[in-house]
Amino acid sequence: MNKRRYALITGASSGIGAAMARLAAAQGCDVGLVARRAERLQALAGELRAVGARADVYMADLSQAGAAQQLAGDVGAAGAWVDILVNNAGATVTKGFAGTTLAEQIAFLELTVVTPAALAHAFLPAMLEQGFGRIINISSIAALSSGGKGNTLYPAGKSFLLKFSQSLNAEVRRRGVHVTAVLPGFVATEFQAANNIPMEEGGASRRFAQTPEEVAAEAWARNEKGHEIVVPGGLPKFAAAMMRALPEPWMRALTRRAAEKYYVGE
Ligand SMILES: NC(=O)c1ccc[n+]([C@@H]2O[C@H](COP(=O)([O-])OP(=O)(O)OC[C@H]3O[C@@H](n4cnc5c(N)ncnc54)[C@H](OP(=O)(O)O)[C@@H]3O)[C@@H](O)[C@H]2O)c1
Repeated sequence: MNKRRYALITGASSGIGAAMARLAAAQGCDVGLVARRAERLQALAGELRAVGARADVYMADLSQAGAAQQLAGDVGAAGAWVDILVNNAGATVTKGFAGTTLAEQIAFLELTVVTPAALAHAFLPAMLEQGFGRIINISSIAALSSGGKGNTLYPAGKSFLLKFSQSLNAEVRRRGVHVTAVLPGFVATEFQAANNIPMEEGGASRRFAQTPEEVAAEAWARNEKGHEIVVPGGLPKFAAAMMRALPEPWMRALTRRAAEKYYVGE
């Protein structure tokens, strides 16, 4: 049977998610595009339909409690069967912890932790039943860091995605489902602007940034091969190797100094 695969991609309205959606369509998949900005999603859906893909738009705020269950219901109602899930939607709370509301922090946890796990939980049984499934969780190289001032829950949330991916992959990889955690370094997207992260013009992180297309291509290809952890790009691979190898006090000193550059206070 030559059924077209259906890829559900969260955070498809820009950056890595939009690149993933274009790549999925180019690979012959139908796509479900999820985010809050409807016009962006409709424009991308139009582009992908023009190249022959079915493209469904799901407007959802995935930082709200129950959003994943609602989305899974909407996908079912659209008659779609998810073969590939890309948990990519993401944001951060830049300010120091004490200067934020609890609601902001809980919304971060819903978006980064609860929604990806709940979506995987919703679609995994059907993947296992058909003996084919792909789950790509977009974590961050920050998952390997020792944390620092600001973005307080970000490394912890991204570590969750890393560890969750590994445990789940151990459970399902022999049953046709590949689960991959992707740990990008700096990627040139709207993430910094969307999250009020101060960025130095011409600074090293900008100069060495990867494109979202590069990240999507490596993530997709290596998930297909069954790789459990993917750090896209040469420099981020080197950085990740250093982060794993360095003694913790050294890592702490380095990541704290780096975090200081982006700290916006409370
Ligand atoms: N850029 C980097 O340097 C970098 C590095 C490591 C990891 N990452 C991770 O990569 C992922 C993608 O980020 P990006 O760099 O492509 O940034 P981006 O261009 O800002 O894209 C973020 C996407 O997430 C969606 N999103 C944010 N909050 C949402 C919410 N509450 N509900 C539904 N969708 C939401 C946004 O759509 P709407 O605003 O339309 O809802 C957008 O489509 C994130 O998980 C991020 O943590 C990025």
